[in-house]
Formats: sequence, C-alpha cells, structure tokens
Amino acid sequence: MDKSFLISEINRLKQEKNAVILAHYYQKKEIQDIADFVGDSLELSKKAANTDAAIIVFAGVYFMAETAKILNPNKKVLLPDREAGCSLADGCSPQNFKKLKELFPKHVVVTYINSSAEIKAMSDWVCTSSNAKKIIEAIPKDQEIIFAPDKNLGMYLKKETNRDLLLWDGSCIVHEAFSLDKLIEIYNTNPNAKIVAHPESERHILETAHYIGSTSGMLNFIKNDSATTFIVATEAGILHQLSKDAPQKIIIPAPSHEDNTCACSECAFMKVNTLEKLYLCLKNESPEISINEELRIEAIKPINRMLNLS
Ligand code: 13P
Ligand code: SF4
Repeated sequence: MDKSFLISEINRLKQEKNAVILAHYYQKKEIQDIADFVGDSLELSKKAANTDAAIIVFAGVYFMAETAKILNPNKKVLLPDREAGCSLADGCSPQNFKKLKELFPKHVVVTYINSSAEIKAMSDWVCTSSNAKKIIEAIPKDQEIIFAPDKNLGMYLKKETNRDLLLWDGSCIVHEAFSLDKLIEIYNTNPNAKIVAHPESERHILETAHYIGSTSGMLNFIKNDSATTFIVATEAGILHQLSKDAPQKIIIPAPSHEDNTCACSECAFMKVNTLEKLYLCLKNESPEISINEELRIEAIKPINRMLNLS
C-alpha cells in the first residue's frame, strides 16, 4: 500500500475513532513519526494510565500492550501485530516462576515490566529500566528479593544497590548480542567518544559505559553531554529520535557479534509492526488485547505500586 495513503488514513481513523497511538523508541521510524507519543517503557505506561482516548494503539510489543490493557480495562487496546513478543517475557513461564516463588516464599518479588500478566500477578513490584534502582532501594534492606526475568539488569542492580538479589535466568536477545571486542576496537579509534548502554546489556559491556540508563535516559544524556561522539549500545530504533534531538552529535551504534555490515542491532519483535499493520489494526480494531478480570486485578497491584513511586 502507498505510504502517503497509509499516513492519511491512519490520521483520519485516529480522529474518527478517538484513538491514541503510543510508540516505543525501538519502533520503525515511520511508526514513531505518526505516533501521538513516543517514549520508553515507563513513560508509555504513564501515558497509557492517563489517556482519555477510547482506543489505545500500542506500537510496541505484546507485554507493553497488555500492560496498557491492565491499566485500562474499559478501553480497547490494539497491537498492530499479535506476534510482537519479547525474549524476556517469553522466557519466563508462569509455571516455573511459581515453583521458584514456592522455594523462596518469604522473598519480595520485583519483576521487570518485560513480563507477562501472569508473572506480574505473582509479583509485589513491577519496575522498568528507569526506576528499577529506586524500587529496589524502597524495599527494606533486610528483606530478601527475587528479581526477574532479566539477569543482566538484575546483576547491574545488585552492583548499584549493593543487594543480594536472587535472579531469574533471562536475557534480552538484542542487548546480550553486543561484542566487547568490536566495541573496544571502535572506542580505540574514537578515544574521545562516550559509551552509553542500556542496563539490559551484559556486564562486560556495562563496565565500559560512561552512562547507563533507559532509552529516554540515554537520549537525555547524549542531548545534554558536552561530548560530540557517542557509541550507543541499545536497539537501533533509538537512532531516529537521536537524529531529531541531537543532530549535531556523531552516533556510532555498538556492533553485535554477528554484525559485519551496518553495525545495527534490531529487535525482530519490535520490527514486526509496520505502517500497513498499524493502519489495518486501526481500521479493523484488531488484534485486540483481552485479559481475564481476576488476573488483571492481581496484575495491576504491582504496576500501581510502581506508578505511585515513580
Ligand atoms: P526501556 O524502554 O525501559 O528503555 O526498555 C527498553 C526495552 O527493551 C523495551 O523492550
Ligand atoms: Fe524484548 Fe529485548 Fe526486544 Fe526489548 S529489545 S522487546 S527486551 S527482546
């Protein structure tokens, strides 16, 4: 379908149906450009919690749209492609998580927002990459904690908070793929560059970083820091917002192990959404997210606890 037709139809349908389009920074650039709001996971959850729109189109992955539905049971929540998963959310099964909880019944459970509603419903707190440290620090020091599902974020938090977290063995397939050797090679030829990294990256990558933070945190750091060159270890979608926010800065994407050409790391789950699927989902009001009400009532508790603290 023609791109200009898709853009005008999406804008028309959005008005007609009182819909809002929320997009994550890892979405394709044409989706970011048509969205009403682009943000990181925490900002998008806050937007979803406060919107007046009748329909929320979540241009992101399944757990994000599901979180929006948990927060808005009476609104229609749409996801352009139902298959937009996440290696973290999909790698943490409720059955196995329940067994872990049963082994450590006195532990407080903090889960990353990149998890299913079932996992959230078994948690005391939900967190995102931008508030995880604050949430761990809000829990009394003598209280033991299970942190799931991202072991890399968990290891980073252990170091940052000096707490002994019990970690689930999950990871993000995009952020665990950065090559330390290639990163060092690039840094050696750009010794004045600053390295920024998302905390889902592995420890050896984080140890090289001058700044570690969520997608919004990294954007703000690059915008405001005096350096001119940055090596960025996160998903390539962030480059689009960077080209708008900091056009004068030189951005070098950190290369992954596999990558010999463009040095871009893309999340295949985020990239299944297209402008055409966005148009069709608004037009047909499908795929729609639904959730069992009993599950929703349990899953919203740790999300609200997070939102109240943020
Ligand atoms: P943030 O949006 O919190 O930076 O998380 C990135 C991510 O991997 C989303 O899936
Ligand atoms: Fe999941 Fe990683 Fe993709 Fe984010 S970038 S949706 S954490 S697989």
